[in-house]
Amino acid sequence: MIDGSLHSPSRTNVLVADDTASVRLLFQKLLTAEGYHVISVTDGLAALDAVRLHRPDVILLDVGMPGMNGIEVCRRLKTEPATRLTPVVLVTGLSELQDRIKGIEAGADDFLSKPVHPHELRARVASLSRLKHLTDALDSAEAAFMALALTIEARDPTMKGHCERLATHAVTVGRTLGLPADDLDALHRGGYLHDVGKVGVPDSVLLKPGPLTDTEFALMKRHTEIGDSLCAPLQSLRHVRPIVRSHHERLDGSGYPNGLCGDEIPVLAQIVGIVDVYDAMTSHRPYREALDSEAATRLLVTEVERRRFSKMYVEAFLDTLRMNAAPLVH
Ligand SMILES: [Fe+2]
Repeated sequence: MIDGSLHSPSRTNVLVADDTASVRLLFQKLLTAEGYHVISVTDGLAALDAVRLHRPDVILLDVGMPGMNGIEVCRRLKTEPATRLTPVVLVTGLSELQDRIKGIEAGADDFLSKPVHPHELRARVASLSRLKHLTDALDSAEAAFMALALTIEARDPTMKGHCERLATHAVTVGRTLGLPADDLDALHRGGYLHDVGKVGVPDSVLLKPGPLTDTEFALMKRHTEIGDSLCAPLQSLRHVRPIVRSHHERLDGSGYPNGLCGDEIPVLAQIVGIVDVYDAMTSHRPYREALDSEAATRLLVTEVERRRFSKMYVEAFLDTLRMNAAPLVH
């Protein structure tokens, strides 16, 4: 089971490599205040030594360091099996497009522009350390899938945080229902991976700022089967595949990809389907405002009345929303 509490800042090492003392001090001050453990060095070679010694969870590299620059350090880290999944942020000047292109080629996960805004620094380090702690708990192939799923989420700005919310709330529903640890684990992974097949859906469909045509919707529906085939070779994802494939099935047979009915739909897929629909309804879309939780709850109840969702699972979900001090917040 992947424990969400693992990504507390106190367990997170951040390496800062910058030849400018004032930048090092500023980063150190801001990140230490958040509870991170910060290691700082002044050049690229020292950064590589510090990575070997301290195994940082997030690495912030100045591009313009003397000796070995940040881009070269990044390239080396990303070709090394032990460090290729460690998030690297390159810190560049505002207008240095060339640096960014080279940085992308070197495998950088993200960029910060100088002067760095404190909020941006905190947000970037928080999200990357979360990703690092998640990937640490997985084998590397699955970690690559997880990164892919988050990359797909990042393609669509309106989906920000969707996978993480889904994972958290699906697990809470599973706990409420008393499901075993294996199922909770599958719900957690399934929350992140349910839409991994969207990698096969063109941007013109995925990001369309309005309702889809029939042809486009047919393309969008394929994400369930594409995701299932992507996960098929990985033994570790065998419990997650039914979620990926069947989270859009509905009890009355109106869902996709197979039009399954009633108990034919795997329980875990039903749970993720309910949380997914609620999260979509309470999220803003370019063509409609987000619904408030009361309106979204009413619509879920209507879906139960239409026999599309299980009464028991929807009630378990609504119970978790009522009990939870922090309901799905965007
Ligand atoms: Fe989906």
